[in-house]
Amino acid sequence: MLSWLSRAFSKRHPLIDGLTCGAGMPYRLSEIAARHNVHYYPIVSSARAFNALWKRAYHKTAELLGAVVYEDPWRAGGHNGLSNTENPLQPEDPYPRVAALRKAMNQFGLDSVPIIMAGGVWWLEEWAHWFNNPEIGPIVFQFGTRPLLTQESPIPDAWKRRLRQLHEGDVYLNRFSPTGFYSSAVNNSFMRNLRGRSERQVAYSSEPVGEHDTPHGIGARKREVWMTAADREHVLAWEAAGYTEAMRTPDSTLVFVTPEESRVIVADQVACMGCLSECRFSNWSQRGPNYTNGAKADPRSFCIQKSLQDIAHVDDSAGQTTADEVVDHNLMFGGTNAWRFGNDPFYASGFTPTVRQLVEQIMTGR
Ligand SMILES: Cc1cc2nc3c(=O)[nH]c(=O)nc-3n(C[C@H](O)[C@H](O)[C@H](O)COP(=O)(O)O)c2cc1C
Ligand code: SF4
Repeated sequence: MLSWLSRAFSKRHPLIDGLTCGAGMPYRLSEIAARHNVHYYPIVSSARAFNALWKRAYHKTAELLGAVVYEDPWRAGGHNGLSNTENPLQPEDPYPRVAALRKAMNQFGLDSVPIIMAGGVWWLEEWAHWFNNPEIGPIVFQFGTRPLLTQESPIPDAWKRRLRQLHEGDVYLNRFSPTGFYSSAVNNSFMRNLRGRSERQVAYSSEPVGEHDTPHGIGARKREVWMTAADREHVLAWEAAGYTEAMRTPDSTLVFVTPEESRVIVADQVACMGCLSECRFSNWSQRGPNYTNGAKADPRSFCIQKSLQDIAHVDDSAGQTTADEVVDHNLMFGGTNAWRFGNDPFYASGFTPTVRQLVEQIMTGR
C-alpha cells in the first residue's frame, strides 16, 4: 500500500494524475501515459483481459500503473465489456472474478497496486468482506449511478425524477449501441422502440433461394425481394399497422418502421459528425480513404451522440410533462442497481443528497 501511496502522491504532471480508458483492449494506454509521464488506470472486465494487456504492453511501464479498474460487465452503467463467452442474462458474482484479477496481478508483482471495483456498488457495508482480504488486496470503489442523483449532478431534473421511479429489472443490458458493445440503460420508450424495430425484422434475398420463395415489393417502386411465406404474413401485418417502410440491414434482413421513423433514421445518418472511430449506425469510420467501415448503415442502431446530447440538455423549464417525455425518448444509461433509488429510504420524500451526504451514506449505509 505504501508504494502505491507514494506513487499516487508524487504527482508527475501539475494538472493530470492519470489516464483511463476501457473500450476494447486499451493496449496503447501505458505508452501514451509514459509519453506524458502520468499514471494510467486501465478498465478491464476480467483477469484474462488484464493478463493480455500486461503481457503485450503494460509490463514495459509497470511503475506508472496507478490502479486497475474492474468494471463489472453485468452491473456497471453505460457501455460494458462482456466477452462473447459471457452470458448477458447470467450475471456472475464479482468476488471470484476480482480475486482472479488480484491473483494475476500479484503474479506480476503488482501486490500493492489497487483494484478499483466499479459496477453495482450501493454502499460499503455490503462489501465488508472485501476489506483487509488478501484475496482481494488493496481495493477502491467507483460509483457511476449513485452520483447521478445528487444536488451537484448536472443531469436534468426530469432524469433525476425518473431515477426515483425505477423498479427492479427496469435497467437491462442491450446490444443496440452503435459502438457494438453491450450497454446498460433504462428500459424506456427509446429502448422499447429499438427492440420493436429489431423484432419487426425478416431475412430476405434479392432472388428466390430455398425457403425464400415468396416475393414482396418494397420501397416507392415496390422492388421485389424474396422471403419465406410465413415472414411475408408478418410483413403484411406490420404494414397494416403503419410500419410501411422497409430498411435494409447489414445482415441481409429488412426492418419495418413508420415513414416518420424512417425519415428520422436517414436524417440522423446524414447528420453524422463522426463522434466514434467506427459507427454501426452511420457506417462512418475514421480511417480513410473512404471513411466507411464497409458495411451498410444499420437502422437497428441509433445516433448515440444525438441521444446523449438530447437527454443531457432536456429543458426542465418546458414543463414536467414535456421534459419527462424527452427523457423517456432518449438513451438513459444507468447501472443495473439504479432501481434501488426507488426503494432506498435515503431518498424518501424526494430527498436529493449533496455529494458529501452521499459519500457519508455510502460509507455507513445509513
Ligand atoms: C450515465 C452513465 C454514463 C457513463 N458513461 C461512461 C463513460 O462515458 N465512460 C466510461 O468509462 N464509463 C462510463 N460509465 C460507467 C461509470 O464510469 C462506472 O464505471 C459505472 O457506472 C459504475 O457502476 P455503477 O453505475 O453501478 O456505480 C457511465 C455510467 C453511467 C451511469
Ligand atoms: S455522430 Fe452519431 S451517427 Fe455519427 S458516429 Fe457518432 S453516433 Fe454514429
